[in-house]
Amino acid sequence: MDLKQKIRVIPDFPREGISYKDITTLLRDGAAYRYAVQELARQCAGKEADLIVCPKNRGLLLGAPLAYILGLGLVTVRKAGQLPGEVFTWHYDLDFGGEEMEVHKDAILPGQRVIIADELLATGGTAYKSVRLVEELGGQVTGAVFLIELTGLGGRHKLRDYDTISLVQYN
Ligand code: PRP
Repeated sequence: MDLKQKIRVIPDFPREGISYKDITTLLRDGAAYRYAVQELARQCAGKEADLIVCPKNRGLLLGAPLAYILGLGLVTVRKAGQLPGEVFTWHYDLDFGGEEMEVHKDAILPGQRVIIADELLATGGTAYKSVRLVEELGGQVTGAVFLIELTGLGGRHKLRDYDTISLVQYN
């Protein structure tokens, strides 16, 4: 199945010059949604993992069914202030910018193997923060999987130390 055809591209959203990749059109197509999750699962086969770690909102739309199919636990990384338990915050370098992200301190145990899953890899900032949170808690990242990769924004380079997979690419 050509997943790219199922993704709607909206020019100049949320602001001029941004070509927004809208996955709602893929998600509302049951066959396409299932195919995408199954394909991510297929790409994860052979990777050692105990957990799927998923950065906030949209990532969960793929990370949750992926964890279910693979029989792995699911851990969410959220914006600061949204998790109720004791959290770990990675204080990344200032040049990363953006928002701080947190994970429950007891969500990842030392030695647990983790696949990062998100719907989009752009600059890689979000995925990299998630990697650092996992590693600070003693987890081991064994791969990163994405539905969409924007290849011109350096995300793959930022994740160069990790096995990175995407299903659909845009320049
Ligand atoms: C989007 C997307 C990824 C991130 C990728 O999240 O879901 O998490 O951007 O961009 P990056 O590689 O440059 O970090 P967004 O912050 O729009 O929020 P949401 O998924 O929580 O809606």
